[in-house]
Amino acid sequence: MANNILVIHGPNLALLGDREISIYGKFTLDQINQALEAVAKKEGVEIEIVQLDSEGDIVEKIGKAKKKFQAIIINPGAYTHTSVAIRDAVAAVGVPTIEVHLSNIYSREEFRHKSFVAPVAVGQISGFGINSYLLGLIAAIDMLKK
Ligand code: DQA
Repeated sequence: MANNILVIHGPNLALLGDREISIYGKFTLDQINQALEAVAKKEGVEIEIVQLDSEGDIVEKIGKAKKKFQAIIINPGAYTHTSVAIRDAVAAVGVPTIEVHLSNIYSREEFRHKSFVAPVAVGQISGFGINSYLLGLIAAIDMLKK
């Protein structure tokens, strides 16, 4: 089976490039996706990228991931800090999941210090801007090779 990786961008991430640039950087979501596609192509893996604003849509997408995807990279956005439902979806499907954040959530407001998803993720990458996604993808590819 071909290695197929699902990338989920959570709420408000379609606004990147315009949104709180001092925190999230100047890259648009399209630019991040192009960079991800380039790495995927180079490494010979398939990726599907979605941006979903609603919690239910994210839960549904994760819930259907088992048949098609061998790994998930997710930036759950603000749901990171609130969503038991997304955490339960990740735990339920058992597809290895890597959590990524553009900003360092631990250097920001205290309410961002808790991630509901991190305990059921393989690992978390936080604070490297666009590179958080690229590092997440490299980690996922490496994991699938083993
Ligand atoms: C974020 C961090 C979250 O706290 C925030 O709500 C986001 C983006 C990040 O990528 O740094 O929407 O997940």
